[in-house]
Amino acid sequence: MSKIIAFFTSPRKNGYTAKLINRVLDGAKSAGAEVSAYYLNDDGIRGCQGCFYCRGHKTCATKDKFHPFYEEIKEADGIVAGFPIYFGEVGGQGKILLDRLYPMLDVNFAPRYPGKKVVTVYAQANPDPSLFTGAADKTHDYFKLCGFDLINSFLIYGDVAEGYTIPDELLAQAFEAGKQLVG
Ligand SMILES: Cc1cc2nc3c(=O)[nH]c(=O)nc-3n(C[C@H](O)[C@H](O)[C@H](O)COP(=O)(O)O)c2cc1C
Repeated sequence: MSKIIAFFTSPRKNGYTAKLINRVLDGAKSAGAEVSAYYLNDDGIRGCQGCFYCRGHKTCATKDKFHPFYEEIKEADGIVAGFPIYFGEVGGQGKILLDRLYPMLDVNFAPRYPGKKVVTVYAQANPDPSLFTGAADKTHDYFKLCGFDLINSFLIYGDVAEGYTIPDELLAQAFEAGKQLVG
């Protein structure tokens, strides 16, 4: 059975990124995947301590609430990650996720656990979808360095508008992306 692990980096557990991630996960489940999901804003998750333990070891020295995720990430076939845009970049919790993935790279910066499929979700209030593509590009470069294969990425934009709801077409595409994560 395919294993999919999802990371919600927004503190808003019912926010836009969360809604779209959940559609991706619905798609993955419909295709038979086993899904686990984690919130980076939960208490007990620390940022990278910069100790470089992971250069010589295949895991992280920080034994916090994130630590058990490493085993799950290693075993996962696919990863879904959602990031709200804060001041033009992924938010702080999103950056913590990226930093904590440093053990995915060995001492020579080669991927230790390559081949995982990735779907990303971003959300921004601004109605111009071209404004913050750099933040997504940087994130995707890092996943690529980890040997992961980005199969789909979604941007929710303009959600500052009163009464905004995620377009049905985007929700449908997210569901399909979840199916593509499997197998
Ligand atoms: C601290 C902060 C900074 C933000 N900065 C931006 C920004 O630079 N550009 C933008 O379009 N939206 C910005 N936003 C709005 C969020 O990106 C937007 O509300 C997004 O939908 C939140 O995602 P979520 O619903 O998954 O939490 C910011 C929101 C916060 C709280």
